[in-house]
Amino acid sequence: MSRRILVLDTTLRDGEQVPGAKLNLYEKIEIANQLKALNVDIIEAGFPSSSQGDFQAVKEIARAVGRGPMITALARAVKSDIDAVYESVRYAERPLIHIVLGTSEVHVEKKFRRSREEVLEMGVNAVKYAKTLLPQVQYSTEDASRSDFEYLWRTIEAVVKAGATMINIPDTVGFAVPEEFGELVRKINDRLKNLNDKVILSVHCHNDTGLATANTLIAVKNGADKVECTINGLGERAGNAALEEVVVGIKLRPEYYGAVTGVVTKEIYRTSKLVSSLTGLDVQVNKALTGDNAFAHSSGIHQDGLLKSRDVYEIIQPEDVGVEDMEMILTARSGRHAFRNSVEKIGYKFEEEQDFECIFEKFLELADIKKEVYYSDLYYLMEKYNEGRQSGEKQISRLSGCDLFELVSFQVVTNDILPTATIQIKRGNEMIKQSAVGDGPVDALYTAIKNAVGMDISLKEYKINSMSRGKEAVGRVNIKIVFEDKTYTARASDTDIIKASALAFINGINAITIEKISESALEQEV
Ligand code: KIV
Ligand code: ZN
Repeated sequence: MSRRILVLDTTLRDGEQVPGAKLNLYEKIEIANQLKALNVDIIEAGFPSSSQGDFQAVKEIARAVGRGPMITALARAVKSDIDAVYESVRYAERPLIHIVLGTSEVHVEKKFRRSREEVLEMGVNAVKYAKTLLPQVQYSTEDASRSDFEYLWRTIEAVVKAGATMINIPDTVGFAVPEEFGELVRKINDRLKNLNDKVILSVHCHNDTGLATANTLIAVKNGADKVECTINGLGERAGNAALEEVVVGIKLRPEYYGAVTGVVTKEIYRTSKLVSSLTGLDVQVNKALTGDNAFAHSSGIHQDGLLKSRDVYEIIQPEDVGVEDMEMILTARSGRHAFRNSVEKIGYKFEEEQDFECIFEKFLELADIKKEVYYSDLYYLMEKYNEGRQSGEKQISRLSGCDLFELVSFQVVTNDILPTATIQIKRGNEMIKQSAVGDGPVDALYTAIKNAVGMDISLKEYKINSMSRGKEAVGRVNIKIVFEDKTYTARASDTDIIKASALAFINGINAITIEKISESALEQEV
C-alpha cells in the first residue's frame, strides 16, 4: 500500500533567506494562497523572531490561509523564539511550532560552546515549553547528516519523550550522499517506529553538491513520511530540494517509492512563475520541470521520435505540471521530419521531393546563421522559393488564407512623457501601418502591433536575456501571450532588443494564426 507523504513548503522561510529575495507582506500572502492551491500539507511561513515584519507576515498568512495546510514558523530552542512562533501561528486553523537545534559536534562545540548533555537538555526544555502552547511540535536536529549517530538518536528519543510530534532530519550543509543518507533515515525510522509510531519522520535537504532532490527521494524510499522543499529549489546558499522535482519524482514512480503525495501537480508551473516573478529570481532555462526548456525539443532525432509518438522522448506530460504544451524548436539540428511537419503546419504541401530537399537545404543554411528558426522565417523561405519559380514551373501549393504577419519596419521613441511606436507590418500583399503610445517603449510597440493585426491579445510574460557578451550582444526575448484564454509561447533574438521584442510578438501572433488555420482546415475536412 502507498504511504501518503506530507509535503512542507519552506519557500517563505528557507527560500526567503536567499539574498535579494525579500518579499513584502502582500506578496507573501499571494504565495501562501498559491501554495494552498498546490495543496501542500504544511506551509512554513517565516522566522518570526527575526523581525517585526516577519512576525507580522506569519500572523497574516496564518489568518489568510484558513482551512487547508498547517501553518508553521521557525524558532530556535529559546523561549522568546517559541513565543514569537506561537503568537504568530496561533491564528491558523492548524498551527505547528518548529524548533531547530544542532546535534553535530561542530554545532555543539563551536556554535553553542556547551556540552552535548547541556544542548540536549536545551532541546528537551524547548519542546516541553512548546507543548504547553500547542499540541503539534516539530523538532529539527540541525546538521543531522554530520552528527554522531548515537548522540543524534539520543536527542531524538529525548525530544519525542518530551512530546515532539515530528522529527526533522536536516542535511543542513548538503553534505549527505544518497546511499548514506538513505541508510541514516532507515536506521532512525526503525528505532522511531519502535519508540512511537505516531511520530512523523521528515527530511530537509540542501543542494550544495546538487544532491538535494536525490537525498530527499532516497529518504522517502527508506521510510521518511514527510519532505521539506521549496519552489524552484530556492533556499540558503545553493538552495533546498525543489518541491516540483521531489513531487513529480514520486508521482512518476509511485511503485518504486511506495508513496504518493497530495500535491496538485497541475499548479506547479503557475506556482513556480509566481515565486520567480515576486522574488525577481529567474528560473534557469534548463531547470527540471519549470525551466523554459524543460519541455522544448530541438534535436532532430528527438523531434522525429516525438512526432511518431510522444512517449518516445516524453516521460512527463507538460500539461501534468501546468505547462500548456511541449515546444519544438527548429534549429540546424532539426531533421527533415520536424521541418516538414512545421512547413505543413503553416499551410504548405510538398508534392515534389526535389522541392522539399531544395528548401530543406535553404532552411539549414538559415538555421546555421539564425540558430532558431520561427514560423515567419519558414513562411519567408517558402514564399521566396515560390517567387523564384520560373513561369511554367509548379509552385508549392498552400492552403488559402495562410498568410503570416511579417515585420517590415518600426520606429520607437522613448521618453518619460509619452513613449510612442510606429510599425509597418505585411500580410500577403496587404501593408498595415499603425502608431500607438504606451507606458513604455515595449508597451507602445505591442499596442501598435495589436492594433495592426486586430487581435485582442494580452501579454502574460516578457523576459529578456543576453545570449552573448560584448558590443555585439544578442538579446533574446521570450514572451507568453494570451488569446481566447489560451497561452502561446514565442521568442526571437536580435542585437536590437526592441526589434527582438517586436519579432517575438509577431511570432506569437503567427503561432495563433497557424493554429486557427489548422482548426478551420480540420473543420472543413469534417
Ligand atoms: O537547513 C536547516 O537545517 C534548516 C533547519 C531550520 C530545518 O533550515
Ligand atoms: Zn534549511
